[in-house]
Amino acid sequence: MSALIINGKAFAASVREKVAEHVARLKNEHGITPGLAVVLVGEDPASQVYVRSKGKQTVEVGMNSYAHKLDASTSEDALLGLIEKLNNDPVVHGILVQLPLPKHLDEDLVINSIDPAKDVDGFHISNVGLLGTGQKSMVPCTPLGSLMLLRDHHRSLSGMDAVVIGRSNIVGKPMAQLLLGDSCTVTITHSRTKDLPDLVRRADIVIAAVGRPEMVLGDWIKPGATVIDVGINRIDKPEGGTRLVGDVDFESCAAVAGAITPVPGGVGPMTIACLLANTVTACCRANGLEEPDGLSA
Ligand code: GUN
Repeated sequence: MSALIINGKAFAASVREKVAEHVARLKNEHGITPGLAVVLVGEDPASQVYVRSKGKQTVEVGMNSYAHKLDASTSEDALLGLIEKLNNDPVVHGILVQLPLPKHLDEDLVINSIDPAKDVDGFHISNVGLLGTGQKSMVPCTPLGSLMLLRDHHRSLSGMDAVVIGRSNIVGKPMAQLLLGDSCTVTITHSRTKDLPDLVRRADIVIAAVGRPEMVLGDWIKPGATVIDVGINRIDKPEGGTRLVGDVDFESCAAVAGAITPVPGGVGPMTIACLLANTVTACCRANGLEEPDGLSA
């Protein structure tokens, strides 16, 4: 193995430390405690784990956490009513509605009912438009975390060839916008892309966000490239039990890449760290205060 293993777990801890320092300053100097409201509809087991973890880490950095757990049969009107209440609540600086929502709820309608200034997921159409036009916005957490890792590893991303595998609204599209913002030449690929391995072979930066376990193989990787694996897939082990793997075949890619994120311990921990960072940023903007350095795009 030749690649440097990018330690997302340690980097996320340093982001949380910066967030905690800024939260302490907001409390001591301004009497303001940032607050994050997380809304979970239904009992999806993975979502329950994420939401619990978000609440715990929010409290650990000194912020207020407001958890709203609603029944799977909650009506759209009831959910929109709760969001309106949170939009108007001055102690709430960030609002996150955990996705996916039960099928009877219109995800776009719900997301776009969140006050864009409190949209710490960066999914509101206004934030998507602001990011796409290079203006100050709330930036989706997983792409923001990936960008932070890339910026930490490379002095500058300017002029680099980046290939993003996956075109989701949560990762692929905003990731491409962020890389463009840092002057990369960006190719977005997806399930209908022809000659994907050949395209990936040209990339200095590969972002894998397709949700297909171990799809990206070592012989797709340009020697020395940086590989950011956004995938988190649970697969069966031949000897029984399960294990977590990314969208990248780690062994073969690490033999060729210059640097690579592992799964777990790579991009994963950055997502919640960036959610906390976005909440502090939203709180500072809401109060006309200086934003923390290095915690936004
Ligand atoms: N479900 C999976 N990822 C995310 C995320 O980043 N934000 C929200 N709200 N839901 C998700």
